[in-house]
Amino acid sequence: MLRFCLQLQLSLESCVYSLLENGQTYVRDTGCISLLLQLFRTTLSTSEKNVSDENTDPCYQLWSSVCSTLCACVNNPQNEDNQNICYSVFPYAKEWLESCTEPEIVRPICSFLGLTVANNSYVQKYFASIGGLATLAKVLLELMHDSCLSHSSMKLAVVVTKTLDACIANNSTMGVVLAKYHTVSELLKLLSNETLSTGEKISIILTIGHCTEVCAEQLSLKLYDNLLNVNDAEELDVQVRKRCLQNYWKKIHFAQN
Ligand SMILES: *[C@@H]1O[C@H](CO)[C@@H](O)[C@H](O)[C@H]1NC(C)=O
Ligand SMILES: *[C@@H]1O[C@H](CO)[C@@H](O)[C@H](O)[C@H]1NC(C)=O
Ligand SMILES: *[C@@H]1O[C@H](CO)[C@@H](O)[C@H](O)[C@H]1NC(C)=O
Ligand SMILES: *[C@@H]1O[C@H](CO)[C@@H](O)[C@H](O)[C@H]1NC(C)=O
Ligand SMILES: *[C@@H]1O[C@H](CO)[C@@H](O)[C@H](O)[C@H]1NC(C)=O
Repeated sequence: MLRFCLQLQLSLESCVYSLLENGQTYVRDTGCISLLLQLFRTTLSTSEKNVSDENTDPCYQLWSSVCSTLCACVNNPQNEDNQNICYSVFPYAKEWLESCTEPEIVRPICSFLGLTVANNSYVQKYFASIGGLATLAKVLLELMHDSCLSHSSMKLAVVVTKTLDACIANNSTMGVVLAKYHTVSELLKLLSNETLSTGEKISIILTIGHCTEVCAEQLSLKLYDNLLNVNDAEELDVQVRKRCLQNYWKKIHFAQN
């Protein structure tokens, strides 16, 4: 099996070469994308999700390179046609997220998901339709409930947050399902950690903005509980009505620092 993965590495390399030389459309026309998607589906289960030896396991290495290559096929620049092909493996990605919260698995999957749904309402809708948002919300819950939130869990929670945001960015109505998983209050909890960088905090704030576009009242209640004094909360209520949450969040965030 390991030899098999090493052999497949060669076909991956020829895909990468083709992508670099000839671009995103060419990899689609030549069937490289189909090969990549097949490798995405099959090589991870080959290594039995045992990532304790991720640096040496050729199947994991192959899978992880496949993820990066798929990311390059859909992104920079965004390639809508390739996004509309790549989403076919979302059910596999979802299944892995449900069975494992190892950063070695979650990070590449989140990059792939985030870039494949980016600015593509159709693909975002598909991901939501298979229960993907709920899965990401559950991963976030799990990471946050790691009894003592480790540094790596926290970093991973931010990655998951950014992915969630990309998934609802074009239609926050889809994010309604997140209420069930208390995503906003988890994000507020995450946001309160001082060890996050400013960029990470902004990502969280933007995500809260998208999550709350449709359930602003809920946020308002949470805030009374969690974060702000009464004056802040009153001002926030006004802002909520105006639906200017994103800017307001930035304001209080920077005011605090
Ligand atoms: C995972 O890999 C490690 C190191 O190669 C090995 O010791 C362990 O038994 C493996 N676990 C499973 C479940 O295969
Ligand atoms: C988003 O997609 C639309 C077409 O659906 C396109 O016109 C626009 O340039 C894209 N925006 C970005 C930031 O890629
Ligand atoms: C912030 O996260 C670190 C781990 O990265 C943790 O040790 C610390 O307790 C957290 N602080 C708060 C206030 O939650
Ligand atoms: C999706 O949202 C992004 C960012 O809000 C926006 O730039 C883009 O035009 C939207 N695309 C579609 C297809 O609605
Ligand atoms: C947004 O998502 C909701 C719920 O899935 C759906 O009913 C609505 O039609 C979507 N809106 C757009 C503009 O796609």
